[in-house]
Amino acid sequence: MKHRRADFPDGFTFGTATSSYQIEGHGFGGAGSTHWDTYAATPGNVVRAEDGRVACDHYHRYEEDMDLVAGAGFDAYRFSTSWARVLPEGKGQPNEEGLDFYDRLVDAICERGVKPALTLYHWELPSALSDLGGWTNPDVAKWFADYAEVIMGRIGDRVWSTATINEFFCVTWLSHFLGAQAPGLRDIRATARAMHHCLLAHGTAAQALRAMGIDNIGAVFNLEWAEPAERGAKAQQAAAIHDGYYNRFFMDGVFRGSYPQVILDGLEKHLPKGWEQDFPTIQAPMDWCGVNYYTRAILAPSGGAWPGLTPVEGPLEKTVMGWEVYPEGLYRFLKRTAQDYTGDMPIFVTENGMAAHDPIENGAIEDPQRIAYIEAHLDAVLRAIDEGVPVSGYFIWSLLDNYEWSFGYKERFGLVHVDFDSLERTPKASYHAIKAALGRA
Ligand code: NOJ
Repeated sequence: MKHRRADFPDGFTFGTATSSYQIEGHGFGGAGSTHWDTYAATPGNVVRAEDGRVACDHYHRYEEDMDLVAGAGFDAYRFSTSWARVLPEGKGQPNEEGLDFYDRLVDAICERGVKPALTLYHWELPSALSDLGGWTNPDVAKWFADYAEVIMGRIGDRVWSTATINEFFCVTWLSHFLGAQAPGLRDIRATARAMHHCLLAHGTAAQALRAMGIDNIGAVFNLEWAEPAERGAKAQQAAAIHDGYYNRFFMDGVFRGSYPQVILDGLEKHLPKGWEQDFPTIQAPMDWCGVNYYTRAILAPSGGAWPGLTPVEGPLEKTVMGWEVYPEGLYRFLKRTAQDYTGDMPIFVTENGMAAHDPIENGAIEDPQRIAYIEAHLDAVLRAIDEGVPVSGYFIWSLLDNYEWSFGYKERFGLVHVDFDSLERTPKASYHAIKAALGRA
């Protein structure tokens, strides 16, 4: 890796990220059913119908995993707590075993001198709440804030930073409009409601945490750069709509207290009554802004019902996900986020990384494409910093190969390889490269 820690400003945080359902082993420790368990059990949704029952068995192997985090020299570890592990029915009685687990995990992170960067919702909604309409039910904001209070009452004294929601776009549009994630709906009214309620849940929880004395609160937006496939107003409009429902809707809501007109054109009639009155809550003050960045999209007009667009394949190098490698998009988003939304507020790249299928050969894994991908994106971060954008940290997705949602265990994002039969961990070349960059080799 060509970068060194010293290339970055003092105090810049390097980290790596995971999420609860993707690594823990949801079958262990008394966790309740989630909408991902049922989505995965429905034929056709997930590659090989795999689920998170065992995943990386992090529930039992977290000490070893935290040794890997600390061993690479990371300053912070981004993880999430599972709502259904804490509250198996989504509300009501907590699961003591689950609270104990997170207590031990946070201690294990702190004992190694690593900062715990918590995310409260990384996608596995308790089934009991899904039965009540999940994100389409306005009460979800209160349920979420109550859960936040329960888990933070237990670990909030040691957590370094707290994000409310991970990836508003995926929680809402991807899973209620495109049906590509749990709960697998394709319903515009459910989508509009989920989008609004997800922001409302963020703001309600942020206020509840602040009232408990918790600070360093943020949220994690996943941003995808949108480009028109061809010249002309129609393709421009397609790109603007994609940028709207993917990126701008959520950032405008949180940082400006409004929604973009290109999206209201399609969704306004489906939003819950009185939606404008929720902005004071949605705009609850934040201390930092998280950006997850992977790729760009190229959009062409398709005609038909709103949004009337279709993604087309781009010409750049791709990862096995079929995602173009486009570090320029990260640079542009960092600039745009500061300029249009966050000003002096610290920005963290809370996820960046790539999937590859590199084989183990003699116990070693060479993943040169991942090393190059990280280098190119760190260049983009440095460029933004040089131009005055307050980027304060960079987290690699992911520590471990893990449950890649609809792609099951097929797609591997880890710095560390996981053999899903033996559950053995093997650091890849990228792990060793980042370790050297962080001064631990
Ligand atoms: C974003 C999500 O937060 C994470 O759960 C997922 O595995 C990665 N992107 C890669 O797709």
